[in-house]
Amino acid sequence: MRPIENLTREVNRMKLEGKVALITGGGTGIGKATALLFAREGATVAVAGRRENKLAETLKAIQTHGSKADYIVGDISKVSDTERIVKETVNRFGGLDILVNNAGVFKGIKLNDTTEDAFDYIMGINLKGTFFMCKHAVPEIQKRGGGAIINIGTALGIKGYRGSSTSAYSASKAGVIMLTKALALELAQHKIRVNCVCPAVVETEIFETLGIPEEKIPERMKMWEAFHPIGRNGKPEDIAHAILYFASDDSSWATGSILNLDGGVTAG
Ligand SMILES: NC(=O)c1ccc[n+]([C@@H]2O[C@H](COP(=O)([O-])OP(=O)(O)OC[C@H]3O[C@@H](n4cnc5c(N)ncnc54)[C@H](OP(=O)(O)O)[C@@H]3O)[C@@H](O)[C@H]2O)c1
Repeated sequence: MRPIENLTREVNRMKLEGKVALITGGGTGIGKATALLFAREGATVAVAGRRENKLAETLKAIQTHGSKADYIVGDISKVSDTERIVKETVNRFGGLDILVNNAGVFKGIKLNDTTEDAFDYIMGINLKGTFFMCKHAVPEIQKRGGGAIINIGTALGIKGYRGSSTSAYSASKAGVIMLTKALALELAQHKIRVNCVCPAVVETEIFETLGIPEEKIPERMKMWEAFHPIGRNGKPEDIAHAILYFASDDSSWATGSILNLDGGVTAG
């Protein structure tokens, strides 16, 4: 953390200069916005996900601005892929300072309709994938003398909402929230800070996977605006700025923090 006297002199300083960041789910939505913001702040960025075409779009957008980046195709529900994604990042960029565990899937399914496969799919990506990304990234971050891990939770992992039918999703993200706190304590001695950002509704393509007919999505988004006391849904950039805060030295005293970033949804 820089002393207050230096702040006026450092307004133009990039917040992530010299850092290597790995962002899962960086091909779309919150992950893409975070990748672009991190690159603008001087980071070298690796994005990972299953769809190569989406990752390539992010890469192109970053490279247009002259920043260094690459993508790694992988499925974080496979432990071997989590290890490979970290290894390839380090091989390409020489180390790792920041891990953003953003990849996730959202399913609204009633308990009675939740098959073992559906449960394993949600848990395998949201919780197991996040866990093993941490496991493989931590030794690399340690080699750099410390760094930051930022997990993405959700308002649905903090509070229940009548009619939401998200028991498996909510449980997976509640696991991510508790993983954040447990790891924050375990890793503080290694100077690795672990924090979590919990959004409410953010307008991304995650809603295309809910089975809502495509033409009805804008109408549904409009309806969700009223759910937020602040009167609008979140934008990926709203979340990216909070992730940047936890990734940078601006938050050097923060670890184990769970940030409700939700237009006021969990305030009531
Ligand atoms: N949007 C919201 O309202 C909201 C609210 C609260 C929390 N969140 C959380 O925010 C995070 C980002 O979501 P988003 O809203 O930006 O939605 P999104 O655009 O659908 O992003 C999710 C990303 O995760 C990747 N992903 C999914 N499964 C993966 C796997 N097995 N391995 C690797 N990558 C995988 C996807 O890429 P591929 O499909 O190509 O793998 C996609 O790029 C998620 O964790 C989500 O739960 C979102």
